[in-house]
Amino acid sequence: MKHNVQKAARLSVAPMMDWTDRHCRFLHRLLSGETLLYTEMVTAPALVRGGALHLLEFSPQEHPVALQLGGSDPAELAQAARLGAAAGYDEINLNCGCPSDRVQSGTFGAVLMKEPGLVADCVAAMRAAVDVEVTVKCRIGVDEQNPEEVLPEFLARIVAAGCERVTIHARKAWLQGLSPKENRDIPPLDYPLVHRMKELFPNLHISINGGIASLEEAKAHLDGGLDGVMIGRAAYHRPTDILSAADPEIFDTGAVRDPFDVVREMLPYIEAHLAAGGRLHQVTRHMLGLFTGRPGARAWRRILSEGATRRGAGPELVEAALASLDAEGTQAAE
Ligand SMILES: Cc1cc2nc3c(=O)[nH]c(=O)nc-3n(C[C@H](O)[C@H](O)[C@H](O)COP(=O)(O)O)c2cc1C
Repeated sequence: MKHNVQKAARLSVAPMMDWTDRHCRFLHRLLSGETLLYTEMVTAPALVRGGALHLLEFSPQEHPVALQLGGSDPAELAQAARLGAAAGYDEINLNCGCPSDRVQSGTFGAVLMKEPGLVADCVAAMRAAVDVEVTVKCRIGVDEQNPEEVLPEFLARIVAAGCERVTIHARKAWLQGLSPKENRDIPPLDYPLVHRMKELFPNLHISINGGIASLEEAKAHLDGGLDGVMIGRAAYHRPTDILSAADPEIFDTGAVRDPFDVVREMLPYIEAHLAAGGRLHQVTRHMLGLFTGRPGARAWRRILSEGATRRGAGPELVEAALASLDAEGTQAAE
């Protein structure tokens, strides 16, 4: 079945290394049936030269799901995109926003903001290789660049090369002197610039990203004319707050999901993961924030984080953590 990724992109959960793995995405999908989910970045060399095809594995329930690639060699990216499309991804996204040293040394990520011609070549090669959507995630610029000048030029080049949708993290990356973490907080956000890009490129589907912490903020950007909103850290740390009401609030369909139900729906998934030789904490580490801000959240976190790494830990630990929440919830209500 072909998924309508363009529609799903009204709200997306950002690609986050070490965080948005398949278990995290499965959880997020139970919270929202509609939101577009992104993989962690997978580098084209790892797939094409390293043959690391296990990095592409995902559950069919995760659709609509986009594969994010890192790289800057058009032929290699085209081959990686082919592998991703063959694995069943609904979209192939090119990372032009990640500032980490490791990534810079391989000439990919945010440093590509300085090379719009090369990015266009990469997009064109990927576009020719696959039928699914080819998209780009970028910054507004890097280092001394003037975003007002370079961003329109960058967008024009990638659109001409066949990029169908872009997500703009609304701040610069400073390639020297800041850690990747600092680069997600210190360079100032410029939301109005991203909104102006929509005026300049009315036919390009533009999603905004960076510092968006609630569905209300997301809706304000959509009402302001943007096509999509991508949320990263807030969706990871407070998945219920961001995702459980996303279907009715953002997509005008479905009902608000109850995190208790979602935990119960995770149990068969957890059992299958353990039966296949996996460890409990690999799944439950993504579930710690499910009850943040609700009664019993602290006990839930503690029971899971202390117990899930123990040898032999299984779904009964999750049930015990749920029971402690039920007890707290009842007390709070009394
Ligand atoms: C732990 C972590 C890992 C990240 N890994 C990636 C990545 O692999 N690819 C990418 O394009 N951005 C990555 N990012 C950046 C996010 O996709 C997003 O652009 C950034 O966090 C800003 O959005 P937010 O303020 O909603 O979190 C990562 C962010 C975090 C916190």
